Amino acid sequence: MKKLYLTSPDLQNPIPDFINLKILTTCISTNEYVDINFDSLVKSSPLLISAINQTEGKGRDGRKWISVGKGGIYISYLLSIGNKKGLNFLSIAAGTAVAEAIREVTGLSPKLKWPNDIELSGLKIGGILIENKIFKDSIYSIIGIGINVNTTKRNIHNKIKDTATYISKVSDRIIDKDDLILKITEYFFHFTNYLGKDLLQEIMSKYLKYIKHKKGDDIRFHFCGNIIQGQFEKIGNDGGIVLKLHDGTKKTYFSGEIASVT
Ligand code: BTN
Repeated sequence: MKKLYLTSPDLQNPIPDFINLKILTTCISTNEYVDINFDSLVKSSPLLISAINQTEGKGRDGRKWISVGKGGIYISYLLSIGNKKGLNFLSIAAGTAVAEAIREVTGLSPKLKWPNDIELSGLKIGGILIENKIFKDSIYSIIGIGINVNTTKRNIHNKIKDTATYISKVSDRIIDKDDLILKITEYFFHFTNYLGKDLLQEIMSKYLKYIKHKKGDDIRFHFCGNIIQGQFEKIGNDGGIVLKLHDGTKKTYFSGEIASVT
């Protein structure tokens, strides 16, 4: 049986056999790489692309993902999604997989800002960008994950220095990036087996353990070019965020961005 390794054959837990692996020394963006080479890569799905460095990472809502250099994790999964119900939960599954993996590998307690920004000590360390494609009547998702792992203050760009941090700063030790990628992959593929089935509740209950928002938190929310003010009510069973608006009505959002919380 073939065994795939990220960087070292000594790893205790290589990437499971059913996942194909491609390692890039550098690329502009792992999501973009999958997108551009989609026709040739789709036959290798499920696929994990890992880049040692990334120069023009993409963030959510058209933003940039600023690289911290070789100390960061830049990965994308390409997989086929059976149905639309699965799509909603993919973002929840990916966020939960990253949070569980960080907790297990580092012993730290990460938090998730809805839907799946990963934070430590109130500052962002990771983000997830999901892009979908239709190919021969099937839905494929590219799930890109970026995490600031081992770096130095010097490598944190001025634009993000007040809002972002990196794991080794909080853990005070260097973290094995391969261990982290393997754990994320293990959790992610475990959770995605559930997508579209009746076991979604298990992912949701794990996800809720990591959510940083508390009922009643004042929230400024960006939605379709508007700013909405409301109070955090809950995360619904469908993964949407429920806000209580000033007129007392409760509204569920499946997209949008929390701008600030007080
Ligand atoms: C966000 O929080 O805005 C999402 C950031 C996602 C960044 C990752 S890094 C690997 C993958 N490739 C990209 O270009 N973006 C994602």
